[in-house]
Amino acid sequence: MGPISYKAKIQTKLLRWFKKNGRDLPWRKTKDPYAIWVSEIMLQQTQVAAVIPYYQKFLRSFPTVHHLATATLSKVLKTWEGLGYYSRARNLHRASQIVTNHFGGRVPDNLRNLLSLPGIGRSTAGAILSFAYNREAPILDGNVKRVLSRLFAISGNPVRGKTEGLLWRISEFLIPKGHSNPFNQALMDLGSMLCTPADPQCSHCPLRSHCKGYLSGKPESYPPRTMR
Ligand code: ADE
Repeated sequence: MGPISYKAKIQTKLLRWFKKNGRDLPWRKTKDPYAIWVSEIMLQQTQVAAVIPYYQKFLRSFPTVHHLATATLSKVLKTWEGLGYYSRARNLHRASQIVTNHFGGRVPDNLRNLLSLPGIGRSTAGAILSFAYNREAPILDGNVKRVLSRLFAISGNPVRGKTEGLLWRISEFLIPKGHSNPFNQALMDLGSMLCTPADPQCSHCPLRSHCKGYLSGKPESYPPRTMR
């Protein structure tokens, strides 16, 4: 290991790439934890392009946690109509009432309270903590699992506890102090723009020279396909 650690190189290269190539998405223009929360719930099971118009419409209809908490469920579901996975809308509505009644109307800024809300798992909580509060909280959605599995040539199945635990520790380890917001966004963008499941664009990847999957010659073999 040279005077500049490989971790610092990965951090610097990914942040520089993101600054130049990162996507300009509506939820990246706000620091409002509620708006970021809404976006992350929509993005759990829906692609970015499909989410954008719903995100904008939802925030016009329910601009604050309080607006959402006092709306009827049927109005919330009507606004969600077409986006699918309606339990997300029910959970978000219920969670907004918990935030109003138990957390003083403020979206929690700590993992424990975020995880107590329906619809928020560890990765969504990490996204809210890093994007809204710039806390050093890791994320691990499907894209990030793939990026990290390749970067470290991890051959375990990322849905299994042992491998998933390892990936969480790597995601946490890599966060640059004070820069978790752009770093976590960059991991997401790398996973959806270059480090794609079938045909990764390694020739454009800022992390290629550090990537054990690339060096193996078979980056698309990480993570392994789930056995049926
Ligand atoms: N997928 C989940 N969260 C996301 C975000 N904040 N930006 C882009 N894609 C995402």
